[in-house]
Amino acid sequence: MPAPSSPRLLVFDSGIGGLGVVQALRSLAPSLTIDYLADTALFPYGEQPDDLLRERITELICKASDALKPTLIIIACNTASTLALPILRERLTLPIVGCVPPIRWAGRVSASRTIGLLATSATARRPYLKQLHEDFAADCHLLIHGSRHLANMAERAFRGEQLEPAEVQQELTYLFEQPGGSDIDTVGLGCTHYTFLLPYFQRLGPTGIMWLDPAPAVAQQALRRLGDVAEAPPPSGLTATPDRFFLTAPPQNNQDLASHIAWLGFTNGWEIFS
Ligand code: DGL
Repeated sequence: MPAPSSPRLLVFDSGIGGLGVVQALRSLAPSLTIDYLADTALFPYGEQPDDLLRERITELICKASDALKPTLIIIACNTASTLALPILRERLTLPIVGCVPPIRWAGRVSASRTIGLLATSATARRPYLKQLHEDFAADCHLLIHGSRHLANMAERAFRGEQLEPAEVQQELTYLFEQPGGSDIDTVGLGCTHYTFLLPYFQRLGPTGIMWLDPAPAVAQQALRRLGDVAEAPPPSGLTATPDRFFLTAPPQNNQDLASHIAWLGFTNGWEIFS
């Protein structure tokens, strides 16, 4: 089947995390056609072994690329990007935009030169992260909290649940109460899910912290790459086929998910990708 003439993006994550990037895309390019794929069958990625993840992500993205014929793919997941970007770029010829912890950005803006990172446990232990630190913020003290729970809290917050402040606060203390933690002035969000916890972090974290959410920058980068490979998106309302939202396993709170993805343009609900 030939690729559709108007650009079609595939945004991928383990769950709702990549929807922060979709949100940014919607405001920058409202008429863009976006398919979303969430590997809910293996959520949370942050608690899976690397070998399993690498194989799974490669297989799933190659299959999705074949079936959905995107013009460009966004791997809107730090845990997946820091592991599988090189192999995906080797396997597929279309442009792939990844999402990596905003260490470089934090290094650019931190005045205290002590920066924090919140990420999944898997991202926190990746050599990729050490390399980012060495290459782009070597003069900064980097403190990391690899969290087992924040991605799941973000899933709940996205579906409209009010989180207990104490459960979010507990996670923040694991970062700020490390030795030197009181010097942190900038915290990067190293997991796309955390976009949906940002209001909690801003409210419950220490005052004066700069919270860096890379989602808008990832969306801008994708649009720049899209400009390289395809004509500009058609005017609003003229997209050829509706945006689709795929999961690899049924969600726990079906109705909550359907209503919350609708405001991001996925008005036809979700379907299983197989
Ligand atoms: N949203 C993903 C990330 O950016 C991971 C969440 C998870 O599945 O653990 O790393």
